[in-house]
Amino acid sequence: MYRIIKKDGLAKRGELQTVHGTVQTPLFMNVGTAAAIKGAVATTDLLKIKTQIELSNTYHLHVRPGDKLIKELGGLHKFMVWDKPILTDSGGFQVFSLAGLRKIKEEGVYFNSHVDGRKIFMGPEESMQIQSNLASTIAMAFDECPSAVADRGYVQNSVDRTFRWLGRCKDEMQRLNGLEDTINKHQMLFGINQGAIYDDIRVDHAKRISELDLDGYALGGLAVGESHEEMYHILDVTVPHLPVDKPTYLMGVGTPANILEAVDRGVDFFDCVYPSRNGRHGHVYTNYGKLNLFNQKYEKDMRPIEEGCQCPACRTYSRAYIRHLLKAKEMLGMRLCVLHNLYFYNTMMEEIREAIEQERYRTYKEEKLYRMSQGK
Ligand code: GUN
Ligand code: ZN
Repeated sequence: MYRIIKKDGLAKRGELQTVHGTVQTPLFMNVGTAAAIKGAVATTDLLKIKTQIELSNTYHLHVRPGDKLIKELGGLHKFMVWDKPILTDSGGFQVFSLAGLRKIKEEGVYFNSHVDGRKIFMGPEESMQIQSNLASTIAMAFDECPSAVADRGYVQNSVDRTFRWLGRCKDEMQRLNGLEDTINKHQMLFGINQGAIYDDIRVDHAKRISELDLDGYALGGLAVGESHEEMYHILDVTVPHLPVDKPTYLMGVGTPANILEAVDRGVDFFDCVYPSRNGRHGHVYTNYGKLNLFNQKYEKDMRPIEEGCQCPACRTYSRAYIRHLLKAKEMLGMRLCVLHNLYFYNTMMEEIREAIEQERYRTYKEEKLYRMSQGK
């Protein structure tokens, strides 16, 4: 069950109740592709950095260690020891971005595993079965994410097929949720809007999927090479055609600025690898812009990454020490940077929620963007 607590312009402050507890939106999903947050972050750490919901990938877990094994061991929650919500992406996007040779047919996609080259077939039914075996809280529909430079004819055909796949996902999910030995019989399904940068294809698809009464709606195929302005424009024209009374999820986005702009356009779910990937490279977020801790100027800097930050890294360690760890390739250096970055994102989402509640979102957004762009 999703409900809107407050609206401020198009910005939504909501709440989603699930079998694994309630999450407050807007929220950021912390990415653990293969059931692990990269950077040696444990699920027990997530409790200390305000993580509400974790995201894993169907494709990766199907390839290794196998969704059947995870089911046998009691499902993904039990396996990774995380009792809060988990969203699993459907595999569609990962197949397109990772797998080698692939062939898209009406029934699904034939491709080779990026781990051992083995031939795999995944269609809407297979994706739902895998996600049901994982027993995630929210399953994503199986979609094709067409390239940002695909021509109009290709995109129209692809979106039509993704729509037919969605119907099959919904039917299969309904069937699986009714089976005796299904671990999570209340698994939710989010549909995914596609259409590259073609306004009319996006809008038409948004209208069609909205009629299916799904648990939530995502925008896919963005942040794949188009400009930020093009992405904001697609949100401007598409989001008004998705149900306002359901979660609105912008997949794979993005920078703090992207999130602030998307919230202003009605989006309230996000996920992105930036905080963990940047952290692993010693790039850390602060309210005064990003720092590169490899920089010589931090060699003797005994201040925390950000003054006042309550994350596990800043409460204890200095920039100088973390810089040393990074340069010495000690795993702890990456880990501290990733913890700080995820805490920064999760804290920004908390600020966003408070600003919407107090009907000062626009002011908050502008001040935050200004401060982050100024440096210190
Ligand atoms: N993650 C980022 N973009 C996409 C998308 O278009 N589809 C899916 N399934 N996942 C994504
Ligand atoms: Zn910190």
